[in-house]
Amino acid sequence: MTAFAKTSQLMKRGTDFLGSEYAVLCGAMSWVSERGLVSAISNAGGFGVIACGAMTPDLLDNEIAETKKLTSKPFGVNLITMHPQIFELIEVCAKYGVTHVVLAGGIPPKGSVEAIKAFGAKVIVFAPTLALAKKLLRSGGDALVIEGMEAGGHIGPVSTSVLAQEFLPALAEDHLVFVAGGIGRGEAIAGYLEMGAVGVQLGTRFACAKESIAHENFKKAFFRANARDAIASVQVDPRLPVIPVRALKNKGTEEFTAKQREVAAILDSEGIPMLEAQLQIEHYWAGALRKAVIDGDVENGSLMAGQSVGMVKEEEPVADIMTSLMEESEAALTGR
Ligand SMILES: Cc1cc2nc3c(=O)[nH]c(=O)nc-3n(C[C@H](O)[C@H](O)[C@H](O)COP(=O)(O)O)c2cc1C
Repeated sequence: MTAFAKTSQLMKRGTDFLGSEYAVLCGAMSWVSERGLVSAISNAGGFGVIACGAMTPDLLDNEIAETKKLTSKPFGVNLITMHPQIFELIEVCAKYGVTHVVLAGGIPPKGSVEAIKAFGAKVIVFAPTLALAKKLLRSGGDALVIEGMEAGGHIGPVSTSVLAQEFLPALAEDHLVFVAGGIGRGEAIAGYLEMGAVGVQLGTRFACAKESIAHENFKKAFFRANARDAIASVQVDPRLPVIPVRALKNKGTEEFTAKQREVAAILDSEGIPMLEAQLQIEHYWAGALRKAVIDGDVENGSLMAGQSVGMVKEEEPVADIMTSLMEESEAALTGR
């Protein structure tokens, strides 16, 4: 009998799949989800995921090697599908026998799912629509994350509660579905598990844990913020479709508007392909997030955060956050 019997029971398919004690993933966060946080999450019974982001294959190689030194528990690697060296990154994952690869940021490029499965790893995919989810699960995806617009970072247009109602009744019986976006407490985890999810993914709640390398200024901004401060970026030019990003409002929010105008002008004058324009936008985000997370420039950098930021009030060890989440979930289920 475990301490969290009811929650663990509902998470069983998730924990069997991940190989962790709790089916609680810490979603990859660029610059934040490095060896320290990832190993702390996995050591606390959750499932850490390295954010590869814009890393080169050599950097990813080193990050996986260093993470392995800090934990013997399973962890995953998140790869962005539009990374120009995605196949080399997959080779690095193969070299280390990474057990789970998360493909984020769009439809996986042809052959990528096969290349991951070829070395025996499980593939976790994201899908914004039910039709695409079914397609990805048919063509090799082993598990799905649905992520609502309450989340921090790049977001879709639909809320977690609506996605859960659309996807879980249709998929949960035959597939492994994890729910993400806006989860700050265990009562919400209990609710999604009861709806058929096998686990959850959180980012914002873990971003400022004690083990997170995020700069003190970044953490302070999180502790001060309320849900309504985490706002989605606005697309300023109809010709340049940008994926909205949820972050705490600051001067950087306005700089992004200027950046979009600049890229749109290049799109016009130099006729660069749309993919190139979108990559420029993504490079901008990677740089802006680094500025805030690593350098502590919370004015000009990007403070990517989800609406659950209002529930992040102090620096806590990952293990304490994990225990609170499980306790809250268990109390909710026990009290039903
Ligand atoms: C600071 C920050 C950076 C993020 N960077 C990434 C990323 O590089 N790749 C990715 O797939 N998701 C990224 N995300 C999304 C998280 O992995 C996770 O899915 C999300 O935070 C879950 O929603 P929540 O913030 O409401 O808990 C990021 C989120 C935050 C807050």
